[in-house]
Amino acid sequence: MAEPTPTPETVSVTVDGMTLDVPKGTRLLDACAQAGVDVPHYCYHPGMSAPAQCRMCLVEVEKSPKLVPACVGSVTDGMVVHTQSENALKAREGVLEFYLVNHPLDCPVCDQSGECKLQDYVSAEGPAMGRSREPKRVLGRDDFGGDVLFYADRCVMCTRCVRFMREVAQDERLTVVQRGHRAVIDTFYDEGLTGNIWADNIVDICPVGALVSKDFLHKARAWDLDRVPSVCPNCSMGCNIRLETRDDQVMRLKPRPNPEVNAHWMCDFGRLNYNWMNRVDRIEAPLVRDASGRHVPMSWADTLTRLADALRRAAGGARAVVSPFEANEGMGALRRVMEAVGGGEGVFRCEQGEEVVLPGFPELALRRDRAANAVGAELFGFARTGGADGKGGLESLAAHTGVLFVLGDELGDAPADFGANASLFVYVGQHLGPAARNAHFVLPATTFAEMEGTFTNIQRRVQRFWPAVRSPGMARPAWQILGVLLAGISEAGAPGTAADAFATLGAVRPEFGQLAWADLGASGAVLPGVRELQETGD
Ligand code: SF4
Ligand code: SF4
Ligand code: FES
Repeated sequence: MAEPTPTPETVSVTVDGMTLDVPKGTRLLDACAQAGVDVPHYCYHPGMSAPAQCRMCLVEVEKSPKLVPACVGSVTDGMVVHTQSENALKAREGVLEFYLVNHPLDCPVCDQSGECKLQDYVSAEGPAMGRSREPKRVLGRDDFGGDVLFYADRCVMCTRCVRFMREVAQDERLTVVQRGHRAVIDTFYDEGLTGNIWADNIVDICPVGALVSKDFLHKARAWDLDRVPSVCPNCSMGCNIRLETRDDQVMRLKPRPNPEVNAHWMCDFGRLNYNWMNRVDRIEAPLVRDASGRHVPMSWADTLTRLADALRRAAGGARAVVSPFEANEGMGALRRVMEAVGGGEGVFRCEQGEEVVLPGFPELALRRDRAANAVGAELFGFARTGGADGKGGLESLAAHTGVLFVLGDELGDAPADFGANASLFVYVGQHLGPAARNAHFVLPATTFAEMEGTFTNIQRRVQRFWPAVRSPGMARPAWQILGVLLAGISEAGAPGTAADAFATLGAVRPEFGQLAWADLGASGAVLPGVRELQETGD
């Protein structure tokens, strides 16, 4: 008989008049957060040690002779905390006044403006006027290497960056040099952060504008950005991220916490590899090849009706190549369309590279498969082909004389006569390369950034993403295109939403039938009973 799970011991704590029960051992700062009170803090970060050095989180605790830093120590039963008492506010105002003595207050040109914890705390509870009349310390700017620029005068010396490199990246490349008001963060060697693929995380955790991204420098103001939860598409780890956009352009990727996948972090390879989402050379309308070989734009209804007719007449079985950047829903729908026309083999090609583990959180690694859904492709019965450069391996498809489907693979390396032998060549994708020009039907599909859907990561975790930018022209999600097509050639109903499309995946791969869309939430759920797949190619 299974042991009963022990109920966690709880303690009662009162924060600014609100009494709540929290698990024994809860950090005081976290207990305050659970009570809805955001205690100012700089040096504390939930992914690292807590040195209690910035003194920004001082609060008053009844029966304690002194103010207490909320970031260290845990709550005790019956503890009564005042975060807004006169003593606490006065102490924090004094701390902020010290931070402002040397701060340049260059918010109008600072990339952090609008998401800066110095701005936030000073405007909430800082002094109305500074009393210092001394000249400010001027240290200037330093290139730390990689994507990171350091504006020393803005630094509040919280040492989050130093501790990240020491404890999480475990590649000690930053330190504090000098002491007192001359203290400054610096690199040990000339190469600085160059070569460490986790370094950009220090830009995220720097609470002020001292560490900024070269890639994002002066590109957009924080308040102009729209933020949508998503999944990094650039390797099979599937880090949880936010797509941050302005005017339908992806401006940057930021990590989104998920303790089961990426904690608070992401790698620079994934973070900086987003320009392809902004490509403008997109297919914007369905194209049907006429008798003269010319592609003619057509409405979706006419295109899919003609294609359904052609598929009903087609013989010779189907072959397909899918891109591992496509969603589970599109891959599953393609599998069902292929079954409806007699079945056949499917393949996918995936670029591979070296695996790089994050030592302080080894569950996270830049994975060998440099695409989000290589695991999904295998689950839906597509076999890996081609080389580690993601090229080649399409010879048997090129020779196929039946129905040929391409989903998302740009076919950049395929010969210009690719697909010429096929009796029916259907291209569902984003870009019309030379090989795709032979298709009888060209169907414009969205990228993951323009649609709702799921990827399956290397842990077999199925994770949702949401539309962040508008799709160009008449492009539609592949699950919708192929779902409507399937309805035209079979008894299946057409999916109206990504959730509908997800609900049909169990018909192709039963494990998906055991997961409910509603259970995926924002951090995903692991597919039950799928363990046999291995990432290959080493
Ligand atoms: S550079 Fe940023 S993260 Fe590093 S110590 Fe200064 S304020 Fe903190
Ligand atoms: S580890 Fe993979 S999923 Fe995570 S940020 Fe890097 S490329 Fe993206
Ligand atoms: S956050 Fe508590 S002392 Fe810095």
